[in-house]
Amino acid sequence: MALVQNEQRYRVLIELGIALSAERNHNRLMEKILQGAKGLSHADGGTLYLVTEAKDALQFEIMLNDTLNIAMGGTTGKQIPFPPLSLRDDDGTPNHSNVSSHCALTGTTITIADAYNIDSFDFSGTKAFDVQTGYRSKSFLTVPLKNYEGEPIGVLQLINARDSDNQVIAFGDDIVPLIEALASQAAVALDNQRLIEAQQTLFKSFISVIAGSIDAKSPYTGGHCHRVPAVTLMLARAACDATDGPFADFSLTEDEWYELEIAAGLHDCGKVITPEYIVDKATKLETIYNRIHEVRMRFEVCKRDAVIACLEGLLAGSEDPETLTRRRDETLARLDDDFAFVAECNVGGEFMAPEKIERLKKIAVQTWTRTLDDQMGLSINELRRRPAEPSAPPVVESLLADKPWHRIPHEPPVDVARYEAEGFKIRPLETLYDLGEIYNLCISRGTLTAEDRFKINDHIVQTVLMLKALPFPRTLARVPEWAASHHEKMDGTGYPCGLTRDQMSLPARMMAIADIFEALTAADRPYKKPKTLSDSLKIMSSMARDHHIDPDLWRLFLSSGVWKRYADEYLRSEQVDAVDIAALLG
Ligand SMILES: [Fe+2]
Ligand SMILES: [Fe+2]
Repeated sequence: MALVQNEQRYRVLIELGIALSAERNHNRLMEKILQGAKGLSHADGGTLYLVTEAKDALQFEIMLNDTLNIAMGGTTGKQIPFPPLSLRDDDGTPNHSNVSSHCALTGTTITIADAYNIDSFDFSGTKAFDVQTGYRSKSFLTVPLKNYEGEPIGVLQLINARDSDNQVIAFGDDIVPLIEALASQAAVALDNQRLIEAQQTLFKSFISVIAGSIDAKSPYTGGHCHRVPAVTLMLARAACDATDGPFADFSLTEDEWYELEIAAGLHDCGKVITPEYIVDKATKLETIYNRIHEVRMRFEVCKRDAVIACLEGLLAGSEDPETLTRRRDETLARLDDDFAFVAECNVGGEFMAPEKIERLKKIAVQTWTRTLDDQMGLSINELRRRPAEPSAPPVVESLLADKPWHRIPHEPPVDVARYEAEGFKIRPLETLYDLGEIYNLCISRGTLTAEDRFKINDHIVQTVLMLKALPFPRTLARVPEWAASHHEKMDGTGYPCGLTRDQMSLPARMMAIADIFEALTAADRPYKKPKTLSDSLKIMSSMARDHHIDPDLWRLFLSSGVWKRYADEYLRSEQVDAVDIAALLG
């Protein structure tokens, strides 16, 4: 009979061990530990304590008592009203008077047949509890939960073992090793859970730091990397909550939520290598500074030359003074006008009509005379790019020029084969940057050259390559795909891979919507007024019609009120205007 009972207990113990190692939820884990120990020892009640972070007290985590019908802590949702049990007195003396704190301090198992018959521990609290409830706390088994370093991380206390007639008995010698074995497995499970949690928290914080550093690179796009995850998670929540329609069956496990959060946080991580002056290129001549100042100085030189030519002519008496001064004034007025035009072209924005490009080219061929060696004071890199001076100064220079050394090569050369191997449809251009003055000033829309545009778009390629280089565990295996598809379009015209809707996962499609919505509604672009909510939603509705974003997800975004929740939390009040959702849902 005893043999059968023991076999049964061992089986329960093994099953419990397996269940504990599989449990990921902290409260459920603690409940399983206490329930398991209670069941194995046939105890009436019990308490599970965990040592606090500061290691100075035992925190009540879960408390059960069948007779008194008490179930607190764990998954019950009921708070345990008792304060933590101090492991030390106010003067720092270890608290050995309480059996649980003694157990935590010494790491030893304590078996007590009747708490009312011993003096070695202070059971006054227990006795007061008994008076209050009419209960009779008698036998106790108090076992430490030790981590892999042998350090107690908690205490498992069982009360009132019962025999087959439900009479309270002492915890038998046969049961103590089993409870100790269970406590040991429980400690490992709890410790694992803590380590996983700590690792997840660390990883999340690390990603938040990276996102913060990318956001900090640009005052224009600051906050983007933090707000895109917020929209993404709101939309994913709406999909999980949907009870009908295309997302009725959509759900995410705890691991998948974490995976999505990580992916969203890393979605633009490739931007760490995008130069700030490209991200923020606000004028056409901008590199690390706005080269309009350099161009303006050339115009100043030309103006001085016009004045000097006039004065020299007057001095020589070779020409009619009136002709000379009229010519000077005409030249000065033309230069003023030309510079104003160049400055206007530099600001960008407006479309560069062909006649404007023609005028720019005419201005460019005007000359000025340089009398100083332009090889002096250069960096080694610049010298490498520039050929030696063709002739000694003075040298006649164009007012604006596209020079060979304006073309900055890729160094080291781009690994085009990698672009092919990864299935990227975008390809690097022949040169990394082209700083040509005419070339830049002729940019027909905005301020970016094709090379600048590629560099910006390339952030997604870099995101893929960076994320693929990371050894993500199985539970985060989809982070690269989810993170790096947010510039793809449903009709296959996006980048970097030209994926279509069918080739994209739902989380990737969610992130595409989140990325555009955040960028459209962002208020931190100093060069433009933030868009209103209604305008942003209208633009995105037309994107859905044009199959740029997922139309089903867009309908969910509108119908679930994600847009409203996001607007209330993140947009400026002046952006949040009236929205006709019925019209947008059409
Ligand atoms: Fe991006
Ligand atoms: Fe983004």
